[in-house]
Amino acid sequence: MIDLKKFQATGRETCFHGRHIQPQIYAGLDGKNWRLQDYVARGGYAALKKILGVGQPEGATGMTPDQVIAEVKLSALRGRGGAGFPTGLKWSFMPRAFPGPKYLVCNSDEGEPGTCKDRDLLAYNPHMVIEGMAIAAYAMGVKTGYNYIHGEIFEVYERFEEALEEARAAGFLGDRILGTDYSFQLHAFHGFGAYICGEETALLESLEGKKGQPRFKPPFPASFGLYGKPTTINNTETFAAVPWIINHGGQAYLECGKPNNGGTKIFSVVGDVERPGNFEIPLGTPFSTLLELSGGVKGGALKAVIPGGSSAPVLPAGTMMDITMDYDAIAKAGSMLGSGAVIVMNDSRCMVRSLLRLSYFYQHESCGQCTPCREGTGWLWRLVDRIEHGKGRAEDLDLLDSVADNIKGRTICALGDAAAMPVQGMLKHFRDEFAFHVEHKTCMVGAHV
Ligand SMILES: Cc1cc2nc3c(=O)[nH]c(=O)nc-3n(C[C@H](O)[C@H](O)[C@H](O)COP(=O)(O)O)c2cc1C
Repeated sequence: MIDLKKFQATGRETCFHGRHIQPQIYAGLDGKNWRLQDYVARGGYAALKKILGVGQPEGATGMTPDQVIAEVKLSALRGRGGAGFPTGLKWSFMPRAFPGPKYLVCNSDEGEPGTCKDRDLLAYNPHMVIEGMAIAAYAMGVKTGYNYIHGEIFEVYERFEEALEEARAAGFLGDRILGTDYSFQLHAFHGFGAYICGEETALLESLEGKKGQPRFKPPFPASFGLYGKPTTINNTETFAAVPWIINHGGQAYLECGKPNNGGTKIFSVVGDVERPGNFEIPLGTPFSTLLELSGGVKGGALKAVIPGGSSAPVLPAGTMMDITMDYDAIAKAGSMLGSGAVIVMNDSRCMVRSLLRLSYFYQHESCGQCTPCREGTGWLWRLVDRIEHGKGRAEDLDLLDSVADNIKGRTICALGDAAAMPVQGMLKHFRDEFAFHVEHKTCMVGAHV
C-alpha cells in the first residue's frame, strides 16, 4: 500500500488506500526552507489573504469570522494537544462581543514523553503556525496572542522569534495587517520546562509570571483565561492545520481523514523501530502502515505499543496490528490517541521496568497541589519500584490498581489520570509479568534483576 520508494525519496509522502496524499503540514519541507520567502513560495499566507479578501480575484470579498469557524467545524479538526476536542466548537465558545482584551494562546509546551512533533513544526515550518494563529485570531476577534514554547528548546524559541520578525516586517502581523482593518500582535514566550505547564490553565498561570499550577474549572479559559479575560488555547499542530483548511475547504480536510477525525496527524514514532521520527499520515491509516513507514520493529518482535504519549494505556501487539490510527478507533481499543507519540516496544522489553520509568516521571512532575496526585503518584512509583527490585508482595498488584483508581477523577487537572492510566493499562494486559516479578523476584523476559 505504501509507495515506500517515493516516501523515502521525498521523506514525507505516503500513499493511502491507493490515493496519493500530500502531507499538509510537512509538505515540501527540507529542514532548511523555514524562512518567510520559502513559506510564501510554498503558497504560504494565501489563506490569510483569502479570509481578508486581499489580492483575490475581482469581486471576491474574503470570509467573515463566522464563515471561518464554520469551515473549521466542517473539517472535523480535533485538538492535537491530547484531548482531541473539536477545534471549531472550541472557537465558537469565545465570546466575540466581549468588550476589552481577549487572548489567543498557542501551547508549544510539548512535555509528554515520546512526543517531539511541535518542536519540529516550529523549527521547520514556523510561519504555518503564525498564519494559523492569525486566522484563528481573526475568527475569534482577538488582537493579542502568545506562543508558549517549552523551556528547554532555546533554538526553536529563537527561530520562532526570527519568524515573527519576518512576518511583522512583511505586514502579516501587527497593526492593519496587509492594509486591512484587522490587527493582531503575536509574541513568543519562553516557558519553564515543567510538564505541568502544558496543562492549559497551568500554562496561563505561568504566562502571567506565576507558579505553573492548574486552576479549578469551571470557569474555563473561554470565559476566564489569561489575566482573567476570555482566552482560547490550542496546540501548535492544531494551528498549523488551519491554513490548509482555509485554502482547500473543510470538506476536503475531512475527506483526508475519516468521519469525526478530519485531516492528517503527525505521529512521533519512537522506541524499538528502525527509523524513529515524525510521520504525517491521514487519520484512519492502519497502524501497520505507520510501523512500515518507521522501518518496522527493531531488535525483536512487536510486543506492545503506547499509542498516544506516555499517559495513554498500553495496547498489546495483536490489538495494535488490527487498528487504525485515529481518535475513535484507539479509544474503542481502550487507549487514546493523545498527543500522537507512538512508543513501540519489542519483546525484550520488561513491562515492570517500563512502568517504573513512567511512574517515576509522573511523581516527579506532579505539581503537588492535589493530595491524591501528590501522594498517589509517589505511592505508584514506590510500589512499582519494589516489584521491579524483587521486594513486591502478592497483594501489591491489587494495591497498585486501587491507588490508581483513587487518583483518577479526583484532581484539579488530568495529570493524576495521566499517571493512573498507564498503570491500569499495564495491569490489564501484562499482569502476568508483574505477578512473575513478585513470585520469582526476577524478570519474566530475562531483561534483568
Ligand atoms: C499534565 C498535562 C500536560 C499537557 N501538556 C500539553 C502540551 O504539552 N501541549 C499541548 O498542546 N497540550 C497539553 N495538554 C493539553 C492542554 O491542557 C490542552 O488541552 C490543549 O493545549 C488544548 O489544545 P487543543 O485543543 O488544540 O488540543 C496537557 C494536559 C495535561 C493535563
